[in-house]
Amino acid sequence: LRIAVFASGQGSNFQAIIDAVQNGKLDVTIELLVCDKPAAPVVERARKASVDTFLFAPKEYPSREAYEAEIIAELERRGVELIVLAGYMRIITSVLVEPFYGRMINIHPALLPAFPGVNAIQQALAYGVKLTGVTVHYVDGGMDSGPIIAQRVVEVADEDTEDSLAVRIHAAEQALLPGVIQRIAQGRVTLDGRHVRVSSS
Ligand code: GRF
Repeated sequence: LRIAVFASGQGSNFQAIIDAVQNGKLDVTIELLVCDKPAAPVVERARKASVDTFLFAPKEYPSREAYEAEIIAELERRGVELIVLAGYMRIITSVLVEPFYGRMINIHPALLPAFPGVNAIQQALAYGVKLTGVTVHYVDGGMDSGPIIAQRVVEVADEDTEDSLAVRIHAAEQALLPGVIQRIAQGRVTLDGRHVRVSSS
C-alpha cells in the first residue's frame, strides 16, 4: 500500500510509522510527507528517513482549494492509496475529502465524539473526565466526525497536568496508529456507512 502522511509539527506519529516500516511490522511504502510548515521538526524526520516531502506555504495560495488541488495532483502522480493525517493542523476541504473518502484517516487525541477540534487534551482535562484516549477515524467533511476505526483508552490521574497527560496520549497514539494502517494494508478494514469492521484474519 502506498501512503502519504500529512503533518504540521513534531511528527512523533510520523516517526512511529517510519519505525514500524523499518521494523517489518508495517508493510507499506511511505511515498510522501505533506507539510504546511517548512521549519517543522517532522520535515527533518522525513529527510533522515529519505522520505520525499511536499512542502507548501498556505499564504502563497489564494485558497485552501488551490493548494489541495496541487497536493492531489502529486498524490495521483505517485499512486498514493491512503492518506494518514497525523497532526496536520489545517482544515481539509472537499477537494481532498471527496476523492479520498474511505482512503483518508486521522488520529485524534481524545475519545471521539468527545472533545473534537483543537486542544483536545486540554479540553478533556478541563472537563474533568476520568477516562480519555485516542481515536483513529476516517475523515469526512466535518471536524473529527468521520467513522471510527479504533480507539484506545488513557486514564486521567488526579495529579495530571496537560503535559503529563499528553505524554501518555502520545504514547497511546504511537501504539495504535501503525497497527491500524497495517490492518488497512491487509484489507481487513471495511467501511459500511458509519460502521467500520476490522476482521481478525
Ligand atoms: C497528535 O496528538 C495528534 O493526535 C494531534 O496532533 C498531535 C501531533 O503530534 N492531532 P505529532 O506531530 O505526531 O508528534
